Parts: sequence; structure tokens; C-alpha cells
Amino acid sequence: MKTMKIHQIFFKNSLRNFCYLITFDDGAIYCIDPFASLPIINYLKEQTLSAIINTHDHCDHYSGNEELVLAYQCPVMAHAQALVPHKNRNLADQEIIYHGTHAGIEWTLKSVHTPGHTLSHICVLLEKNDKAFALFTGDCFFNAGVGNCHNGGDPEVLYQSISTIFEKLPDDLLIYPGHEYLKRNLEFTKNYEPHNLVAQNFLKEISTLNLDEHFFINTMKTEREINTFLRLKSRDLLETLNLVNSNEKQVFLTLRELRNHW
Ligand SMILES: [Fe+2]
Repeated sequence: MKTMKIHQIFFKNSLRNFCYLITFDDGAIYCIDPFASLPIINYLKEQTLSAIINTHDHCDHYSGNEELVLAYQCPVMAHAQALVPHKNRNLADQEIIYHGTHAGIEWTLKSVHTPGHTLSHICVLLEKNDKAFALFTGDCFFNAGVGNCHNGGDPEVLYQSISTIFEKLPDDLLIYPGHEYLKRNLEFTKNYEPHNLVAQNFLKEISTLNLDEHFFINTMKTEREINTFLRLKSRDLLETLNLVNSNEKQVFLTLRELRNHW
């Protein structure tokens, strides 16, 4: 029996944004990162929105706020330092946004402070029976990659978030990123880990697919195999980068810089 549903919306805009709607059995519906309002309003039909959660204050993650607040008079939540329109609730690290038990399954939605892409970036963690179930990663973490730090971010801080928070996530956790960058990121992994067969096979698998219509929800286990930013000890990677004697932070920062020009 489904007591929670995740609906993914892809906007087909040039930045390839995703938005997510999480619906619980009691009718509570949370919207994460609305780039635009219309597909959300169309999806909701007669239902209403409980709240908007913005992972960070870049406009492609909040430009739907205005019209959604007008339509549903719903609260807007983001980190205290995030400058998003209509925000009326600040989210601290580990703050509970929603908690409910449906058919014996306990669901909790909470914010996790993950600075780096911006300093006030949060991810949204969905827990099932007190165990991490899914993570909505905004622009902190993507399929096979991590976010840039161009607009208010800091790569050293991003390294801290990835190496401390993401390292600990369970293998079966589902990743819901803020953008669709899978192919480009897999090509990056393949370039710097030329012997990574999992990444190569994944690239082959998607080569014939229309990536405007076909999306992958990876687990952390898959990400640990294809996301080179999580594979800082990989011999293949260290040799390609000529960084065999470097520490993990130096490898991460080198990768982040290389990805900026990829
Ligand atoms: Fe962003």
C-alpha cells in the first residue's frame, strides 16, 4: 500500500531543472524547488499545497514561488540565510518539516544543512520508519556529479558537506537531484576514470534514450560507483589526475575545478 508518493517534474528549460511534489496519505503535499508554477498547478488539480521548500536561493529553484503562494496561500520554507521570495519559515539543520504515520508507516521530512553550492543550501531528507529513504539534493549533489560553486558557494565547504554528510548515507537511499545532468556527468567520470566500467555501461545504456523524457532515480550505491566526486581514493582517478600522493580534499577541489571547464 502506497502511503507516500513522489512526483517528479522536468521543466525542459535550458538549465534542465527538476521539481518534486511529495504527497502523504493525510493529504499533505510539499513542493520542492518550483522553477515554474503551471505544471504544479496542473498536477494538483483540486488538491492544495501544504508548503514550498526551496533548497537554495537561486532563481531557477524559486521562480514558481510567487504564483504558487497566490494560488494556495501556502508557507515558503528555506534556510535562514536564503533569500527566497515569500519565505516565512526558516529551516535549521535537522529541523522536522512533516511527520505522519499512515498504515503503520512513519514518514518524516526534515531539512539538512548542506552548504557549498551556496552557504545556505539545504537538502530535504525523507525518512521512512526513522531510516533515511530519499534525499532531495537541490544543487548540492547530482546524478554522477556535484554542484558548482559559482554563485555564492565555496568548493572547500562543498567538500566538507559531501565528505561528511553524503559519505554516511545508506546504500539504498534514493537520490532526487535538482537538475538533469546525468550524461554530461557520466562523460566526466569516464574521462577521469577511464576504467570505470559501471559508468561506461551506464553511458551505453542511456545513449539511445531521450533524456528529456527518461529519468533515473539512482541509489547512493549506484552513485558510489559512478560519481567520481565520491571516489576520491580511486587509483584510476588519482593516476589520471597525477595526484597519487594528494589528499582527498585536494582531489575533490581539482575535480571541481576541472568540471567547471568541462
Ligand atoms: Fe543553484
